[in-house]
Amino acid sequence: MKKFFWGASTSAHQVEGGNKNDWTEWEEKTAHEMPERAKHRQWFKSMPNIYTFLKNHHNYVSGGACDHYHHYEEDFNLAKSLGHNAHRFSIEWSRIEPRKGEFNEQEIEHYRNVIKALQERGLEPFVTLYHWTVPLWFRDEGGWLNRRSPKYFERYVQKLTESYKDLGIKFWITINEPEVYAGHSYLKGEWPPEIRSYRKYFKVMRRLAHTHVLAYRAIKSINPNAEVGIAKNNIYFEAHGINPWNKFLKWCADYFWNYQFLNRIKGEQDFIGLNYYFHNRINWSFGKNENKKVSDMGWEIYPEGLYHVLCGIWRYKKPIYITENGVADEEDKFREEFIREHVMAMRRAMSEGIDVRGYFYWSLLDNFEWDKGFAPRFGLVEIDYVTQDRRVRSSAEAYKNIIEESLRLPENSA
Ligand code: FCB
Repeated sequence: MKKFFWGASTSAHQVEGGNKNDWTEWEEKTAHEMPERAKHRQWFKSMPNIYTFLKNHHNYVSGGACDHYHHYEEDFNLAKSLGHNAHRFSIEWSRIEPRKGEFNEQEIEHYRNVIKALQERGLEPFVTLYHWTVPLWFRDEGGWLNRRSPKYFERYVQKLTESYKDLGIKFWITINEPEVYAGHSYLKGEWPPEIRSYRKYFKVMRRLAHTHVLAYRAIKSINPNAEVGIAKNNIYFEAHGINPWNKFLKWCADYFWNYQFLNRIKGEQDFIGLNYYFHNRINWSFGKNENKKVSDMGWEIYPEGLYHVLCGIWRYKKPIYITENGVADEEDKFREEFIREHVMAMRRAMSEGIDVRGYFYWSLLDNFEWDKGFAPRFGLVEIDYVTQDRRVRSSAEAYKNIIEESLRLPENSA
């Protein structure tokens, strides 16, 4: 009998607080300009609900975030009380290796406690090793443009896998959304290190694929029972009508965005982690979605797309975990329906034989949404950033019911 994993995701930089990495330095440097910069971003106008926050420069410094670093037990108690049986989180490389080649044993111990806290509560840990932030020394050596970067990452991964060997961690995610990170950081120049170059973008993409392969082999050699994959952001590109140009654009978008990275690492992944957020109806150009129902961030809500994206990645015939799927919705107006309908789309794919084994809502907590700061609210649990109080949103209870109903099914599937 296969166990289905239900849970939520977080990432270290977005929730922990007190980090010192390439992002924290960048945030401090750019915060004063961010309200002005935001106004020139294409996304700014689509976020009327959160304008006020986007105009305040304090919004853009992660600072203490949700102080999850100190509240993780309380947060995992909440996850457990909400019916979850798994949790995805990330380890912050800059804490583990703050100076080149020097590992911080106290921080290694910290994450050991985090993992044990999950296991003690019956929450299966899904460990992400790289969710976009890097140590300062790594950045200073050129980040992912440095030829040696995959080797540096491999050394960090080896250290962690060896340190946690006795914990029997089964699920490892090496890299979160390589193309989203590389696109914003090396092509659009909106995220650190603010580079705009096609050549560098493709270089970083190739390097991240190589990095994954080294990390995959390192984990498997130390822990042969581990299951290792990446978390991949795939978009449902839909060609409007029968127009051959639209079909051609769809083919290109699928190839470059959805499959190129996965093709590169094809033989060296045990599962595919899918992050699903976007639908793009192509009508002569991209992003012509009609009748949009949108989140606080202006992102279209399109559950059906999840079904199509799952069908698309089933070409690799690997087990799939939905490692992220969520909505920014401060008033909690859409979230329940959002989850319900995405779970339905997932079940439709499963009923057609697609091997989906888990669903992780993004996110357990409200958190720091990168260059949009704290304004978007994705959490099942609301955070009061002044008092650090946690308040469970009613959609979190609805998600709990969905989980409980499914666990009552005879085959304990989804
Ligand atoms: C994904 C990221 C995650 C979060 C969500 C909203 O692309 O992986 O960290 O920012 O979007």
